Amino acid sequence: MGFMTGKRALIVGVATDRSIAWGIAKAMHREGAKLAISYANDKLKERVLPLAAEVGALTLPLDVTVDREIEGAFELLKREWGGLDVLVHAVAYAPREALTGGFVEATSRESFRMAHDISSYSLTALARGAAPLMKGGGSIITLSYLGAVRSVPSYNVMGLAKASLEANVRFLAADMGPAGIRVNGISAGPIKTLAAAGIPGLRKMLGRVADVAPLRRNVTLEDVGNAAAFLCSDLSAGITGEILYVDCGYNTVGMSFPLEAEG
Ligand SMILES: NC(=O)c1ccc[n+]([C@@H]2O[C@H](COP(=O)([O-])OP(=O)(O)OC[C@H]3O[C@@H](n4cnc5c(N)ncnc54)[C@H](O)[C@@H]3O)[C@@H](O)[C@H]2O)c1
Repeated sequence: MGFMTGKRALIVGVATDRSIAWGIAKAMHREGAKLAISYANDKLKERVLPLAAEVGALTLPLDVTVDREIEGAFELLKREWGGLDVLVHAVAYAPREALTGGFVEATSRESFRMAHDISSYSLTALARGAAPLMKGGGSIITLSYLGAVRSVPSYNVMGLAKASLEANVRFLAADMGPAGIRVNGISAGPIKTLAAAGIPGLRKMLGRVADVAPLRRNVTLEDVGNAAAFLCSDLSAGITGEILYVDCGYNTVGMSFPLEAEG
């Protein structure tokens, strides 16, 4: 019996079979969770439906910028399941031009607003919708990146949005903890997904991690999926308000070079 047997999970952020959210869906399905998977628009619906069928998931439309769709999603889950145990938020967006060139020139007021609305505020809005369904407690997770706490070339305004997202995790955890709802983030190493493909220099980032990270490789969808399943199961019952790095140890390294005898 899987360690998520009996858990009902809404997964927001599947776009393709390379999405981190899809890696999470597969791990949770393997561990016995019952899944609902949302799609952001009709174009993505066609890609998401066959994936959802593979894991026997309910499907529903959910654009996180539309309050009515958020309400509709939780109404549907209430009707279908009567409650919810797990919410996975794996959503981010910034206009491409904001991720191109230097931070100062690339960051317009509108790109700042969009990045923070879609990538951070949406977690607050979804948590608010989920809370009344998590009567017996629950677990909420989101996906962050090192750019929240360190500057990274091209990551630009997304770094600011991820910093906001990580603060969001801590404030939600404090607010929802008394109701038994845990809120955590996973800071994942770079993975080639649709969203990541919009970041110039991704190939260099992947190469750098493989050279420098203690494990000398990049993370996989399985690595992140398994950590997410753990954080959304009772195995992590004492953990909330945390950001768990799943990055092959990259964030822990201050400097890395081959040791040679000093001449
Ligand atoms: N790929 C990486 O290297 C990496 C590393 C660390 C963190 N992350 C984070 O993981 C999360 C998932 O991204 P991914 O890399 O799997 O890419 P992805 O493109 O597969 O997923 C991004 C998702 O965001 C969704 N989305 C965007 N705008 C939306 C909206 N208005 N309403 C609903 N959904 C919307 C897209 O539909 C898509 O499913 C993001 O938060 C991303 O920042 C990614």
